[in-house]
Amino acid sequence: MTATKKSAANSGLRASRNLDDDIEEILLTQKDIAQRVAEMGKAIENDYRGKPLVLVGILRGGLVFLSDLTRAIAIPHSFDMAGASSYGTGTTSSGRVQITKDVEVDLRGKHVIVCEDIYDSGRTLAAIRDLLRVHHPASVEVAAFLYKKVKKRVAEVEIKYKGYDIEDKFVVGYGLDYSEMYRNLPYVGVLKRSVYEGGK
Ligand code: IMP
Ligand code: MG
Repeated sequence: MTATKKSAANSGLRASRNLDDDIEEILLTQKDIAQRVAEMGKAIENDYRGKPLVLVGILRGGLVFLSDLTRAIAIPHSFDMAGASSYGTGTTSSGRVQITKDVEVDLRGKHVIVCEDIYDSGRTLAAIRDLLRVHHPASVEVAAFLYKKVKKRVAEVEIKYKGYDIEDKFVVGYGLDYSEMYRNLPYVGVLKRSVYEGGK
């Protein structure tokens, strides 16, 4: 288990009162994010014009990206959320992905775009993609806001719409959490090591 996969839910994480104080470096500003999401929305509009489209966000991190992306797409479409968790006991990564919420919108014959905050090991996206295929959609593609350049993926998933490439560092903000905190930061930043190594 890497430090980054450790949930501090049980280890008494106290985020600083000012969340910005826990950030080492800002990688993407609010403006960078808005610009890129607008471009992704336009690309999706062009590809799906005239087709029945459903965006499926992955809880919880994908919620923030989905809420921006849906408003950047002017063609008619609907959206829903699916849930997945890759944690077993809450403190260790189980290596298996549990589906915690299925979609409710009817996907049969629809074109689906899964919206996820980050493509890391690929486990979550692979599991969600397999889950959604059971609903007989016309197609399933993936939009990942961040694409982590990891040395080795556990599961390869084709990412049709990619926001930004980032180095293999633990990041928070724009939906991404550490121990369920920092999701509300409007930018993407690298968390200070002292936050998860308990050295604060
Ligand atoms: P996976 O390893 O690709 O299955 O990613 C699993 C989940 O881990 C993602 O949906 C994110 O919620 C989370 N995750 C992966 N990398 C980071 C990170 O750098 N910061 C915060 N969460 C992350
Ligand atoms: Mg997470």
